[in-house]
Amino acid sequence: MYGTLADVIIQRGCPELERLVAVRSKGWKEEKLDQTFARQRHVSDNAEDKRNRDWYKRLNAVMEEIDGYSLCVPVMGSPKFLDLGCCPGGFASYILQRNRLATGVGVSLPVERGGHKFGLQERLRSRFQIHFADITSFQQLSPFFIDHPRLSPAPPQMRPASFDLVLLDGHQLRTDTSDYAAPWDMDRLLISQLILALQSVRTGGSIVFTLAHPERILTAKILYLLHVLSGDVIAIKPRTMHMTRGIFYAVALGVGKGAKGRQMPEMIRGLQDIWAATTFGGEEGKGRFIEGSELDFIIATEELETSHLDWLISVGQPIWDVQAQWLDKWFRSKGVV
Ligand SMILES: C[S@@+](CC[C@H](N)C(=O)[O-])C[C@H]1O[C@@H](n2cnc3c(N)ncnc32)[C@H](O)[C@@H]1O
Repeated sequence: MYGTLADVIIQRGCPELERLVAVRSKGWKEEKLDQTFARQRHVSDNAEDKRNRDWYKRLNAVMEEIDGYSLCVPVMGSPKFLDLGCCPGGFASYILQRNRLATGVGVSLPVERGGHKFGLQERLRSRFQIHFADITSFQQLSPFFIDHPRLSPAPPQMRPASFDLVLLDGHQLRTDTSDYAAPWDMDRLLISQLILALQSVRTGGSIVFTLAHPERILTAKILYLLHVLSGDVIAIKPRTMHMTRGIFYAVALGVGKGAKGRQMPEMIRGLQDIWAATTFGGEEGKGRFIEGSELDFIIATEELETSHLDWLISVGQPIWDVQAQWLDKWFRSKGVV
């Protein structure tokens, strides 16, 4: 096999991804779009109160869509959920209203470090405990104890195997003011959230994970991991947000009950080694990006391409299809294609 994973998928035959690649390459050549994206970045980095409120409502609607497709929010009993990267609180507000007995624990970056404000409605706050902390710097992410000022224990409420539902929506902020902030925090966030979710979810519980681009090696291997650990994995591209972008939500149901559910401890250990490399590895010991091959303990790239490509295509198809349609529409509205 040659080229990127996207090339291999297209060679295999996937008109949805082929169309997306074609639309993208036409559209991105336009310089005038740079201004539009600079404006969008400014908005997301500087979410002021009015915008924060609108954004909160849209996040609530996204969670409603995710639940509509996957039924991941238990309607019976008194479920406990963990919400990583939880501010402003739109996802939590949906869950707390959907089930009046649900309680949640949330963690989000402190505002003074550039994180977003907490905006959960007052009447729901008694059922949600928020902690302001950096979810990439908890001791339990490490495979062994590391004495370093950057690390601290996770909140005690994050007990192992105790949550019915774990939401992972931490998103790298360009406004992070930490001395340790680095470009590869994007990868550190991804791996940290996955480790914390697998440690915290109860057997049979669910994980909702915000991911991007199923045709990227890192994303494809994480999807495969969720697939083998869980009873079912559903990929959802909401119609209320991020339509033109590669972002989608993977929902793993029945975590720990999949074909390789019993291998969860080994998988967590493999991810912890990667976290250590992304945090303290690299030439200067300040961390580095993840290489796709480091996730070979989940599945080797060649095996993914030869034996599981049809599975990956079936997961990715609806996502590429929706993104291509919206991107095409959006480019046309800007007079680009
Ligand atoms: C897309 S928003 C999450 C929205 C949330 N799901 C909701 O429904 O309101 C991403 C969040 O991740 C948080 N975040 C980014 N980096 C973080 C980190 N290292 N630790 C904790 N939170 C982080 C941001 O402050 C932001 O609130």
